[in-house]
Amino acid sequence: MGYSRFTLQWGLAFVFLVLHAVYGDVSYSIPEEMKRGSIIGNIAKDLGLDLGRLSGRKARIDTEDNNVQYCGINLSTGDLIVQERIDREGLCAKKASCVLKQELVLENPLELHRISIRVQDINDNSPQFKEDSLKIEIRESADKGARFLLGEAHDGDIGENAVQGYSLQQNDHFKLNVNTKAGGRKYGELVLDKELDREDKKEMMLLLTAFDGGSPQRSGTVLIHVSVLDANDNVPVFSQTVYKASLAENSPLDTLVITVSATDADEGLNSEVTYGFDHVSDENDDIFSLDSKTGEVRVAGGIDYEKVSSYEMQISAKDGLGLVTYATLMIEITDINDNVPVVYLKSLTNPIPENVSPGTEVGIINVQDRDSENNRQ
Ligand SMILES: *[C@@H]1O[C@H](CO)[C@@H](O)[C@H](O)[C@H]1NC(C)=O
Repeated sequence: MGYSRFTLQWGLAFVFLVLHAVYGDVSYSIPEEMKRGSIIGNIAKDLGLDLGRLSGRKARIDTEDNNVQYCGINLSTGDLIVQERIDREGLCAKKASCVLKQELVLENPLELHRISIRVQDINDNSPQFKEDSLKIEIRESADKGARFLLGEAHDGDIGENAVQGYSLQQNDHFKLNVNTKAGGRKYGELVLDKELDREDKKEMMLLLTAFDGGSPQRSGTVLIHVSVLDANDNVPVFSQTVYKASLAENSPLDTLVITVSATDADEGLNSEVTYGFDHVSDENDDIFSLDSKTGEVRVAGGIDYEKVSSYEMQISAKDGLGLVTYATLMIEITDINDNVPVVYLKSLTNPIPENVSPGTEVGIINVQDRDSENNRQ
């Protein structure tokens, strides 16, 4: 602290002197990140200074604009040495040219030399993506050739040591397209090469690698998580093409006859199935009901075997966006003994004479039963 105030006061006091006292400039070029104590160059020799008098003239290195004492001078050898970490990215960020400005100050007489130290980039940074993983949602109906922008990788280094390209892990569906922006920065896009099918594969993990052009080369990766979104590309499918049920006649209203079911391989609304009778079989609507959500077929009217002994209906299953499939529903009605035999007198000889002999036909009785088989015997 005391030292910097000292330099400031001296800097102001000697502003005119300084103008006269600038002797010569010297410049060096070094790679960034040299170890502390490394020799940048021999400044005494380069400026033709008397080694023996460096100490007596209080030779020292001052900084022009910041307080960090990056360099120092070895008074016995005249070497300019690294004192603090010199990080090009920290000093100059993305600037193409990075020059660290220092001054060598000597007293008796006051003498000032400008030192320019050009700091060269080394490949000390790896390309880096903002996040470890990237989520992309793609509709399964996306066409071949569809493009999906990927995040750009950043690299603290410059030039060849910055991001030079990308590579995508081998996979069945995507290729990588690498583009260059106006400033020379590169970014990638996924290009759909083979159409997706959510019902076949709904998630994919792809590793994207960014690499720089340094030596040795450095790289960074991001995991691309592709979610395939559903398109309504599947028709509902009934569990059977023909449903057969048997039902006793006179079954009470609401009796469950059968439950039909269809499934749809899509997702969400695309897989919500509703059931219904097909239009052509409207005449049976009042005899049976079909629950549009559950697929339950129930008795909704009078079932009389003697009137209709079997029903055949077309039923439909429709998904949320209107893809329809059909199945056949056959209901056999079984007879129950709901009819009493009826006796008909067909003919009768009346009156009959008193002397009629046994075995003489006097009348014909006809017995009928509307039921079937055993119920009518
Ligand atoms: C100056 O350099 C000499 C010779 O390399 C070394 O012995 C000495 O320790 C250095 N002095 C400082 C202050 O670094």
